[in-house]
Amino acid sequence: MTGEAHDSRRWLDQQLAYYRARATEYDEGYQRRMPIPTLRKAIADLPIAGDVLELACGTGQWTPLLAERARTLTASDAAPEMLELARQRVLEPSVRFEQIDVFNWQPRAQYDTVFFAFWLSHVPSDRMSEFWHLLRDALRPGGHVVFLDDGPAKVQLEEPLASDGSPLVLRRLRDGAKHCAVKVLYGADELAGVLAELSWEARVRMVDGHHLAGCATWRGDCQ
Ligand SMILES: C[S@@+](CC[C@H](N)C(=O)[O-])C[C@H]1O[C@@H](n2cnc3c(N)ncnc32)[C@H](O)[C@@H]1O
Repeated sequence: MTGEAHDSRRWLDQQLAYYRARATEYDEGYQRRMPIPTLRKAIADLPIAGDVLELACGTGQWTPLLAERARTLTASDAAPEMLELARQRVLEPSVRFEQIDVFNWQPRAQYDTVFFAFWLSHVPSDRMSEFWHLLRDALRPGGHVVFLDDGPAKVQLEEPLASDGSPLVLRRLRDGAKHCAVKVLYGADELAGVLAELSWEARVRMVDGHHLAGCATWRGDCQ
């Protein structure tokens, strides 16, 4: 582990504590904040099929859509409080839930698709290489990573905090409690470039002024 990676552990712990505390508030205003039809359309043509792993599923906002397209679906999150809400939302018996902390994880199975929504921007820059290495291990040959996330314009809605590493933002809960989260807001071309450096062939596009969608394949599969 590099010195930088060691440093970001503190922010990862705080970020997870924030989401655990926020679980019961998470869905408030989700439909209002997220242009769901636009985002659904953006991933309609992306390769979500076969055995699918969803990382950071939260309360399961995207899990039913994945279940419609998957042969099998494993939905995972590090926060037990989020997983409990996702279990209540998604009653399909074919969906398995698993507690996975992405940064304490060694994939034991391989999937055709790994999907995550609004997760990548929470991965500190110094953990990107480690994270995408894990994704490679979690994918079958020819498999795809599919993702949705916030784009750079979302910075207007954040309260940035001083940081000497990955960008950090302040998040507040209903009771006034203040938390801290990592928020790395990539542009579409910038993210495709970062992934190319890590040997992934990525197609990333802005789907509206605030959100991006992408699909990545490990380049080792194309050689
Ligand atoms: C912005 S939410 C996204 C939830 C869901 N994908 C969605 O689009 O509504 C980020 C999620 O990441 C989860 N999370 C935080 N740290 C994590 C970690 N280290 N490993 C896996 N999930 C984590 C949180 O519990 C939360 O559910």
